[in-house]
Amino acid sequence: MNDPVRVGILYSATGTTSTIGQAHLQRAQLGIDEINETGGLLGRELVAVRYDPASTPARYAALAEQLIVRDGINVIFGCYMSSSRKAVIPIVEKWNKLLFYPTLYEGFEFSGNVIYTGAAPNQNSVQLADYMTSSFGARVYLIGSDYIYPYESNRIMGELVMQHPGSDKLGEHYLPLDATERDYAAIMQDIRARQPDFIFSTVVGDSTASLYRAYADAGFNPQTMPIASLTTSEAEIAQMGADVAAGHFTAAPYFQSIDSPANARCLARLRQRLGDDCRPNLCWEAAYFQ
Ligand code: ACM
Repeated sequence: MNDPVRVGILYSATGTTSTIGQAHLQRAQLGIDEINETGGLLGRELVAVRYDPASTPARYAALAEQLIVRDGINVIFGCYMSSSRKAVIPIVEKWNKLLFYPTLYEGFEFSGNVIYTGAAPNQNSVQLADYMTSSFGARVYLIGSDYIYPYESNRIMGELVMQHPGSDKLGEHYLPLDATERDYAAIMQDIRARQPDFIFSTVVGDSTASLYRAYADAGFNPQTMPIASLTTSEAEIAQMGADVAAGHFTAAPYFQSIDSPANARCLARLRQRLGDDCRPNLCWEAAYFQ
């Protein structure tokens, strides 16, 4: 074989978004293995050079620069939170390299050095707003983690919902990425008083489970006031438990449960390698196809 082609991988195996980061890692590595098993890229083996940015935007930036400058890498696959993408963009632009980003994102950004392969708001927020307002009503309560994506995604959801009759925004709160069930319990008190038609969550990472558990502990009923979210995937559901997640809503371009021959083949290949302990989800799919 000719010289290998080395690519950078920056997904978090540790820290608050590591549950989804592990899915990214699994799927990117499987994609690379499959390319190599069928002869590589134009006859060249693909080799992953991988670091763990520990869910910290500054670490993403430092490791992106290390990949480019020290390791001589031209193409990086990576990032989950938009704050990590925003930290890496100045680095790939400075060195004129490429970042493939496999996460749903908020839009309103352009970089010629980024290939965005996750859903944009016209591919998930619009559909979720239509479904929630027509099924439950247009009085919404917004909760997010305290960084760029939740502010932007909540703004978009607010604008979409406000186009419907009877709409109202009954609350908007941002909590730290390490928020606990107790932190969310205080918000549940306010939700009890205001009685929205649905809650829109842009909470990410480990605190997603805390939010849904606080909702369940408050005794709310998903049949009348569910949580809708674009960031609660199969990975976060596994973390919180199916009983806590049941009845809530997500819109995404991919679900593990998609009933198609291509998905069945793909899941069988994954289980053959990793056993049953894998959580395919929207980011997992994009990390593969990109
Ligand atoms: C995200 O931060 N784009 C989920």
